[in-house]
Amino acid sequence: MDLKQYIADIKDFPKSGIIFRDVTPILDDPACMMQVVESLSRFVMESKATKIIAPEARGFFFGIPVAMNCKIGFAPVRKPGKLPRKTISQSYQLEYGEDSLEIHEDAILPGEKVVIIDDLLATGGTVEAMIQMVERMQASVVGVACVIELDDLKGRDRFHEIPFFSLVHYQGE
Ligand code: PRP
Ligand code: MG
Repeated sequence: MDLKQYIADIKDFPKSGIIFRDVTPILDDPACMMQVVESLSRFVMESKATKIIAPEARGFFFGIPVAMNCKIGFAPVRKPGKLPRKTISQSYQLEYGEDSLEIHEDAILPGEKVVIIDDLLATGGTVEAMIQMVERMQASVVGVACVIELDDLKGRDRFHEIPFFSLVHYQGE
């Protein structure tokens, strides 16, 4: 299966000069989705993870089915103010300004082995913030898996000590 056939390239979205890599055609094709989930699940099972976390919103597309497939728990990482119980918050730098992510404080127990899943790795800022969050909870990140990796942005250099897996690469524009 050529996965790129299931990723739509949208020029100049959300702003001029950017090509948006849209994974929604994967979600619309159960056979393709099954293959993606199986590939990500193999990585998760080899890592011996006890929990998967993923950031809203696109991380949920893949994080939840993979967690179910691997028969381990899932915890959502959300933008500020969305989770109803007590949270741990982690801020991170954007190109312009700062943002933050939150997780329920009891969603990860000390000593847990966590895999982070997302649809796409760009600068790695989102993943790096989630790694810091997990480590502050006295747990460890045993792997990071994304469907798409934008090679030129070298996101994986930010966490080169942690096993990383991606299914499809894009270089340049
Ligand atoms: C996108 C993408 C990744 C992140 C990658 O999410 O889904 O989560 O950016 O970028 P980075 O590696 O430079 O941090 P976005 O923040 O656009 O939100 P969404 O998933 O809710 O669409
Ligand atoms: Mg995202």
